[in-house]
Amino acid sequence: MKVGIIGAGHVGLVSGACFAELGNDVICVDNNVEKIKKLKDGVIPIYEPGLEKLVHKNVDSGRLLFSIEIGDAVRRSQILFICVGTPPKENGDPDLSAVEFVSREIAGSMDSYRLVVEKSTVPVQTGEWIRRTVEREIGKGIEFDVACNPEFLREGAAIKDFMKPDRIVIGVESERAEKILLDIYGPIKAPIIVTDIQSAELIKHASNSFLAMKISFINAISILCEKTGADIGEVAQGVGFDSRIGKEFLNAGVGFGGFCFPKDLKAFMRIAERLGYDFRLLKEVYQINEEQQERFIEKIKEALWNLKGKTIGVLGLSFKPNTEDMRSAPSIKIIEGLQREGAKIKAYDPAAMDEAAKIFRNVRFCNDSYEVAKGANALVILTEWDEFDKIDLKKVKELLRDPVIIDGRNIYDPKQMSDLGFTYKGIGR
Ligand code: UGA
Repeated sequence: MKVGIIGAGHVGLVSGACFAELGNDVICVDNNVEKIKKLKDGVIPIYEPGLEKLVHKNVDSGRLLFSIEIGDAVRRSQILFICVGTPPKENGDPDLSAVEFVSREIAGSMDSYRLVVEKSTVPVQTGEWIRRTVEREIGKGIEFDVACNPEFLREGAAIKDFMKPDRIVIGVESERAEKILLDIYGPIKAPIIVTDIQSAELIKHASNSFLAMKISFINAISILCEKTGADIGEVAQGVGFDSRIGKEFLNAGVGFGGFCFPKDLKAFMRIAERLGYDFRLLKEVYQINEEQQERFIEKIKEALWNLKGKTIGVLGLSFKPNTEDMRSAPSIKIIEGLQREGAKIKAYDPAAMDEAAKIFRNVRFCNDSYEVAKGANALVILTEWDEFDKIDLKKVKELLRDPVIIDGRNIYDPKQMSDLGFTYKGIGR
């Protein structure tokens, strides 16, 4: 099938490369000239394991092209996926101007039937707006359909999530659109849920909100664990074994970050508000997450007493492992909070230091975990990168000025840490 992807960000690029891998002819369009130039030169502008190889392979085989012209994609493709950004506005509403703009451009270049699919995360009823926008711009007598096909791609695992998803959701309003989408996803073995467009739109926001709720729930339980001497790992395991609850997303820590959960929660609350429903549950989910980071700073203070003039070594800056993404990373709030208390910060992250350097002031970036530990009054873990699991803790203890580790992701075993002579604090244990 001939596929056009509008927006070559994380979702667009991964989807484009994967659709090409499935044998389709794909053209990815982005208005960022620099980005498209890089992609044409074989440079992948984002960090996503496996993506570079997939893009190169499919470009070489001629199945994946890049362009800055939406018209190119519309002329060549029967199906157009809108994957442009929907960043939050000041008030938490998503900014949908890019979705409107590309819908107009698509309509303006259409000379015969096309299927326009929203893949960007958008509020319920956006499909209706896309339909109206296309209708206004399109030439007389030209047919089209609008559909919603939300993405469930985790950064760092996006290719696997695309190729082996838990489910594929297709929101359509015609059999013709349904058939095209069923065809394109035919090679992927996964349950396909066909709904109306509004339901598909709601499924996306409801899924992300539910996952965020699980994280805030377990973080709230971790507070009770700390107050009672229970262990959050054991509690989460005992709870998660109930198949109705599920084991995943029950890892207590410094809270969720990234470009999706915080933004989507806010957007979902705003949508509910506009529809006349006060979604108090989600407000609490958000609040618990904010407080989790404040509580972590308090935990560091409890371990070190005064922070003024002390050096704190931070391992992990990205919002989760296997990404360089710093957007809404818990490390931002935590490091800035520690700096406000007068602490000096040294930090290391396997991938996010270039991004972090654009955000932080007065942070000394180090080449590895040992350089961070050297002379620090405490080591703080904020992202559970695999390599932190493997560091030589004896060496770390020798390098630290004070043998204090505060682990915001519970990656170490408390017993082993106390045997090694560390003052060790995790979350909820
Ligand atoms: C999330 C969803 O998982 C995807 O399904 C969705 O498609 C995507 O948002 C999106 O809307 O585009 P992502 O933001 O990449 O994906 O990251 P997650 O792996 O979901 O993690 C989000 C945050 O939750 C991270 O900060 C992570 O550290 C935190 N988390 C996750 C926990 O604190 N505890 C857990 O048990 C799991």
